[in-house]
Amino acid sequence: ALITLRQLLDYAAEHSFGIPAFNVNNMEQVHSIMQAADAVDSPAIMQASAGARSYAGEPFLRHLIEAAVEQYPHIPICMHQDHGAEPAVCLRSIQSGFTSVMMDGSLMADMKTPSSYEYNVNVTRQVVDMARAGGVSVEGELGCLGSLETGMAGEEDGSGAEGQLSHDQLLTNPEEAADFVKKTKVDALAIAIGTSHGAYKFTRPPTGDILAIGRIKEIHARIPDTHLVMHGSSSVPQDWLKIIHEFGGDIGETYGVPVKEIQEGIRHGVRKVNVDTDLRLAATGAIRKNLAENPKNFDPRKYLKASTAAMKDICQARFEAFGCAGHA
Ligand code: G3H
Ligand code: 13P
Ligand code: ZN
Repeated sequence: ALITLRQLLDYAAEHSFGIPAFNVNNMEQVHSIMQAADAVDSPAIMQASAGARSYAGEPFLRHLIEAAVEQYPHIPICMHQDHGAEPAVCLRSIQSGFTSVMMDGSLMADMKTPSSYEYNVNVTRQVVDMARAGGVSVEGELGCLGSLETGMAGEEDGSGAEGQLSHDQLLTNPEEAADFVKKTKVDALAIAIGTSHGAYKFTRPPTGDILAIGRIKEIHARIPDTHLVMHGSSSVPQDWLKIIHEFGGDIGETYGVPVKEIQEGIRHGVRKVNVDTDLRLAATGAIRKNLAENPKNFDPRKYLKASTAAMKDICQARFEAFGCAGHA
């Protein structure tokens, strides 16, 4: 059944676990997430980005998620809108049946220019007011996602700042977080701790100076009742990078957020963990390998099935590692 983010994260907090929120763009991703959730008896969060909406179209995404609800009636599913650029975007999702929306007021509506604190409070508060009326949950964001190594937002994916970000912008301030939650009444708060979207997060396996898990602890100590959200939380599996390279791809040396660090975050109030890139890497690796190994095949179902299986393995591993397996 469809449930709101708030219902799911309240339950997660009670039982001290986290839940991956996977981005979905097509049927294969929805299949893979649901097969994994079903296999380990986990609730699921599926989220649609602006990029996903322009790729598939909002009705297709919504109906794919609704198809999952119909096929897996025993699994609680949250249908979440990722990174809303402005209140109007969130309003459309609320009206069309999403059970949760993210208002990303850390950036202006162009999704490139870092916003002022007042702007962020104002747009987020507006969305909370609208969402309450519709029984929908709201995630806000305070701080800008981006690399503490370079000060850059990371891959250009329509949801990252442009230009150089300061240390202050890259790390959410605990005092400001407390004020933000009080003023906006968001159900969940995305925080900035040095992660960025995409595959190019860290040039070396991250240590505390470039991945500030310590900051999560400070924020959680200040606002222990607020559900925290980690964005840019793909782990960038080295085994999939290797397969991609082996079969003609060229992604280069890069590192993600280790699952162990996410688990440390979950011990300190992180309840929702956004993962998109890992499924993209697994799908790309599996399709490259399948096509290379089956040169005579021209049936897309064959290589798409391989991609579904690869993504399912990642989903299942995250459900188990984040502690939500067994909690459907
Ligand atoms: O927010 C970032 C997600 O990875 C979505 O990216 O806009 O390319 O779908 P996208
Ligand atoms: P990744 O690019 O690390 O998968 O992050 C996805 C995300 O934060 C979507 O909002
Ligand atoms: Zn994000």
